[in-house]
Amino acid sequence: MRTQVGIVGAGPAGLLLSHLLALHGIDSVVVDHRSREHIVARARAGVLEHGSARLLRAAGLGARMDREGIEHGGIYLQYDGVREHLDFRDLTGGRTVMVYAQTEVVKDLVEARQAAGARLEFEVADTRVDELDSRHPVLRYTAADGVRHEVVCDVIAGCDGFHGVCRPSIPDGVLRVFDRDYPYAWLGILAQVPPSTDELIYAYHPDGFALHSLRSPQVSRLYLQVDPDEQLSAWPDERIWEGLRRRFALDGWELADGLIFDRSITPMRSFVAEPMRYGRLFLAGDAAHIVPPTGAKGLNLAIADVTVLAEALVALLRDGRPELADAYSDECLRRVWRATHFSRWMTSMLHRAPGADAMREQLRLSQLRYTTASRAAATSLAENYVGYPPLRLDGLDLPGA
Ligand code: PHB
Repeated sequence: MRTQVGIVGAGPAGLLLSHLLALHGIDSVVVDHRSREHIVARARAGVLEHGSARLLRAAGLGARMDREGIEHGGIYLQYDGVREHLDFRDLTGGRTVMVYAQTEVVKDLVEARQAAGARLEFEVADTRVDELDSRHPVLRYTAADGVRHEVVCDVIAGCDGFHGVCRPSIPDGVLRVFDRDYPYAWLGILAQVPPSTDELIYAYHPDGFALHSLRSPQVSRLYLQVDPDEQLSAWPDERIWEGLRRRFALDGWELADGLIFDRSITPMRSFVAEPMRYGRLFLAGDAAHIVPPTGAKGLNLAIADVTVLAEALVALLRDGRPELADAYSDECLRRVWRATHFSRWMTSMLHRAPGADAMREQLRLSQLRYTTASRAAATSLAENYVGYPPLRLDGLDLPGA
C-alpha cells in the first residue's frame, strides 16, 4: 500500500492534520490502537484559544463549535477571599477563548474525515514506523480484522501522544529531553449541574487549587488539586463537593452541586523532546511535549503544531520545497517553550506546594495580587491565555479564511 502521509494517532493532532492535508489534495492514512468509541468519549481539555477556534472555522470545522461552544471573554482568579476578573477582550484587543470540549472537536473531526471517505483505522495493533531516515518511511500495523498492513509513505506524522510508539522509534542520542514532574495531580469531575459561574474560576486556597470550568449550560467541569498518588476511591462524592465548596468559598456566592457522571485523576508534568523531527518522521502534539493543564495549552499546542506541519508538508510534497519542513521543529518549539513556561508559571502560582514555607506563601500571594492589580501583569497573563504567538492562518490556503 502507498500513501503520502502515514499518521499515527487519531486524536485531535492526527485527525486535524489529515483534514488539513486533504484540503490541499494530499492523501493520508490514520491509524490508532484505540476504538472510535473510546476516542470520542474521553473527557479531556475544554478551552480553545482564539487562533485555534479561527483555524477550525477556516478549515470548515466550526459549525457545531459556533452553535454549542461558549465564548469566554476572560477568567476569574480567586485567592485570599477575593475573586478578581481578568477581561481578555479589554486586555488583548478583543480576543476571547472558546469553551468547547476536546471530545467534541474530535467528534467533529472523525465525522468530517469519515464523510470525506478518509482511511481511518481504529483498533489496530503492533504499530511500527521504520526506515525513518529514508525517502520512504514505512508504517506497519495489524488492522482490527487481523490483517497485517505495510504502508509506504513519503512522510510519517507521529501524533500518537506521550505514550505512543513514534517518539521511541527515534534512535537513541537524537532527542534532547526536558522533563519535570509536579507534586500535584488534578481530580476532575463532570457533573450534571448548571455552572455556578459565567467564566472559569482559577482558585488558590490553602487546601490546594480548584478550577470551575464548564461544558454546557447543564454540565459543569470541576477540578481539585490532590496528591499525585491519591486514589479515586478515597474521594466519595460528598468529599469532592465539600472540598470544592471550601476552596471556592466567597461571601454571597454558592456552588451548586449535582450528579457526578465522570471522574478521573490526572498527574501533571512538563516534558519537551527536541527536535520534533527525525528524518521523515515529524512529531506533533503530546508525542513531543506535555504541559500541566493549568494554562489550558495542551490541545492548543497540538492544533498549532499540525497547522504548521500541514503547511510544511504541502510545500514539501506538492511543490518539492523542503524549507518549511526543515524549519518545522524550530517554529513549533518557540511556541511550545512559551506555553511550557506559562503553564508552569500558572501552576506554581495556583497550587499549594507540599512543605511550602511561609515566605513562599507570601510570595505567591504577592504574585496573585500583582497579576490582578497591574494592567501590565494582567495583560501578560491574558495574551498567553488567548494564545501567544497568535496562530498564523495565512500560510495555508483555507476555504473559510
Ligand atoms: C477544562 O475545562 O477541562 C479545563 C479548563 C481550563 C484548564 C484546564 C481544563 O486550564
